[in-house]
Amino acid sequence: MVFLDNAATTKIALDVKKSMDICEDFFYANASSVHSAGLEAMKIIEKSRSEIAQALSCSPEEIFFTSGGTESNNWVIKSLIEMKSDKKKILTSKIEHPSILEPLKWLEKNFNYEIVYVNVLESGVIDLLDFKNKLDESFCLCTLMHVNNEIGSIQPIDEIGKFCKLKNVLFHTDACQSFMKLPINLTQMPIDFISINSHKIHGPKGIGALFISSKVKISPFLHGGGQEMGLRSTTMNTAGIVGFGKATELLKNFKHTKKISELSFWLKSELLNKFNDCVINNDGKEVLPNILNIRFNNILGKDLFWRLNKEGIFVSTSSACSSNKNTPSRVLHEIGLSEKQNLESIRVSISVDTEKDDLKIFLNALEKIIKNIGE
Ligand SMILES: Cc1ncc(COP(=O)(O)O)c(C=O)c1O
Repeated sequence: MVFLDNAATTKIALDVKKSMDICEDFFYANASSVHSAGLEAMKIIEKSRSEIAQALSCSPEEIFFTSGGTESNNWVIKSLIEMKSDKKKILTSKIEHPSILEPLKWLEKNFNYEIVYVNVLESGVIDLLDFKNKLDESFCLCTLMHVNNEIGSIQPIDEIGKFCKLKNVLFHTDACQSFMKLPINLTQMPIDFISINSHKIHGPKGIGALFISSKVKISPFLHGGGQEMGLRSTTMNTAGIVGFGKATELLKNFKHTKKISELSFWLKSELLNKFNDCVINNDGKEVLPNILNIRFNNILGKDLFWRLNKEGIFVSTSSACSSNKNTPSRVLHEIGLSEKQNLESIRVSISVDTEKDDLKIFLNALEKIIKNIGE
């Protein structure tokens, strides 16, 4: 199979799998137990916490393990209710992941919050002028993603964070698509909350984290036995956490980004050379190269998707969450694509596991499919 859907998830790295096997075999004690076996399990959990904290240049005490990006995003948004602040305005964009947009809608409906959407430019980057015009001291939270999952556009989270600080507004960023792909240095970036997950970086599924700045307070997400400093109770997922830490460690020198950039550049030029009708939807400067969003004139993305699928080549029609719904992508709509262009689009996403031969197989299949469709 040729897996070109790495923005949806990635294959677990062999060394990650090995580190998890060791956990299951030897460190299976409940990490909250005070006997030596429990303490040993807690020790390796704390090593992973430190590894992840180091990657973000923050303190290990600011990393809280969760079940993934969705939970981290929900936690930040839902914790606003207990803050009981008089400020009830939240700034976001319409290109956020559903795990941001849906809880926001829920807050709006059930707790009378006002959700304000910042304009997004054709590049997929927010309009900073509009952002600065809209955000003021009456907002309690600004939540804007670091990298978009459908088009890879990169938001200037440094500048956004600094402006939020100026206006005394909490700033959260969903960094599930950028963690270990772009450096995030929290000693220099004023950010209050960051959501990350493991399965986008060749770690296991079902584990993520929320960075909570020591300068801010947040209410517990799960009440119970008091794990994670009383903020998220449940027996610790030792193997998942260790796998997440290992996956982070394996990518810490960022060498993989060079391979991904080169492959992406090559694929883009091959697509444009081979296919007159191919358009790159996300051809801007502020885009992470692992995601290519492309379309072919007069060919439905879903037709390409299913024909590639038949050849054992896996891409996505938009985001993984909505690709089975066969509706136009909300994100592509926001950056100005017509409904026709939107439905013609597919997302091809690569990772450090992708080889040039995979891309050659994809290009050959694409050539064959497009020729067949045209006949
Ligand atoms: C930008 C973004 N945020 C959040 C999520 C949800 O993460 P998880 O699958 O770990 O719940 C994803 C994954 O699809 C994502 O791409």
